[in-house]
Amino acid sequence: MPIRTLQGRERDWGVGKGTGHQFHRQHKPNHASSISTLKPAVLALLSYCNIDEICGFVFPISDSLRFCFGLQRLLVYSSITTHWTAMSSTGTILVTGGTSGLGYEAALELVKQNPTYHLVLASRTNPYDAAASINKATGSKNAEFLPLDLSSLKNVRTFAADYAHMGHPPIRMLVLNAGLQVLDGVQYTEDNIEKTFAVNHVGHALLFYLLRPHLDKNCRIVIVASGTHDPAQKTMVPDAKYNTAEELAHPTAETAKNDGRQRYATSKLCNIMWTYALHRHLVENNPGYYNWSVAGFDPGLMPGTGLAREAPAYLRFVWSYILPYLLPLLRFTLSPNIHSIKDSGAALAKLATSREGNGEYYEGLEAIKSSESSYDTEKQEDLWAWTLSTVANDEAEKRDFEKVYPSAEN
Ligand SMILES: NC(=O)c1ccc[n+]([C@@H]2O[C@H](COP(=O)([O-])OP(=O)(O)OC[C@H]3O[C@@H](n4cnc5c(N)ncnc54)[C@H](OP(=O)(O)O)[C@@H]3O)[C@@H](O)[C@H]2O)c1
Repeated sequence: MPIRTLQGRERDWGVGKGTGHQFHRQHKPNHASSISTLKPAVLALLSYCNIDEICGFVFPISDSLRFCFGLQRLLVYSSITTHWTAMSSTGTILVTGGTSGLGYEAALELVKQNPTYHLVLASRTNPYDAAASINKATGSKNAEFLPLDLSSLKNVRTFAADYAHMGHPPIRMLVLNAGLQVLDGVQYTEDNIEKTFAVNHVGHALLFYLLRPHLDKNCRIVIVASGTHDPAQKTMVPDAKYNTAEELAHPTAETAKNDGRQRYATSKLCNIMWTYALHRHLVENNPGYYNWSVAGFDPGLMPGTGLAREAPAYLRFVWSYILPYLLPLLRFTLSPNIHSIKDSGAALAKLATSREGNGEYYEGLEAIKSSESSYDTEKQEDLWAWTLSTVANDEAEKRDFEKVYPSAEN
């Protein structure tokens, strides 16, 4: 049941109506305010440094040379102004699976709302050159694609190691969105983990741990889940069921018979349980310096995304070319929680830009209760502990991950 919506927000999810900039300004990191205090002082100082007079005193220079120095001073003024402006607002937004569907629309909206931020689209493939498309649409050069395969722990480590050398500004928004459905029986990754669970949860968890040193102290983390995790929502997907993480990673002869959509729904339940566990561990371990905030998100049903790529051809056709045109009818007959990809992308962007709802679960812009079983702290801790043991290379790394915050301030 809805309990509240994001601050000052209309229930309409329409693009461009958001107050994302306001949210961002309210929560600018502290160094930004000290920079803006310094900026007038630096400019005032420069205005006293009359370069051409100084040079005229020291060197017998011509009027034309003096003119050049005047121009140079103007250039110094403007470049310093630009520099300060960029420094006061620059950060990085990282969206997994930002190359298509929900992630792409959210990333596009985030660049529009945060024109000075760098955007990383971290995804397996990039068939439509999503970064170039976002740059063209926004008239910027902010977006960049970096290959990431969440089904491989080794690949996630390579991604993080490469990222560490790129010198990007701190990550202010980390949107863990990538996801898939495996419909055709149980498949295992190279790490011998069931693939749906591996990509939708395990790879993301390792990515988070490895990226911690690059997260801004006010970082916002949003984890994309799904209403299908909740049997009470009657989404027509078989009920999610969590016994242990071990069982999800290595299904028994009995659970291996489950429908692939059931494994998907359960992986989405894990997204929410891990969101709550992460929030608890963030609060418990906070050394006082960090102000990280984490929220779970359900975009609602969005016909037309690539999520149905494994479905039979006729269903893919209906999903991609018919259902997106029937949204009002679907909303009226099935559920109000059915949206265009663009509207859900705008809602996700708004939640990522906001600081509200730390440790909460959102359906679009409304903070709602997730399924009853998602609040089982014993199961959350089972998932948390199993994940740590699985993704950490050794005991030392596990202890480091367990602290949640990185040792040195970034
Ligand atoms: N569509 C819906 O109705 C719906 C409803 C509720 C929740 N969601 C959630 O929304 C999120 C986005 O899904 P979508 O509907 O937008 O589907 P989508 O269009 O298929 O987007 C999924 C993205 O995840 C990436 N991805 C898949 N496997 C990956 C891997 N191993 N490593 C890295 N990236 C990988 C995909 O990249 P490639 O194209 O290269 O594989 C793609 O960019 C998912 O978490 C999904 O569970 C969707």
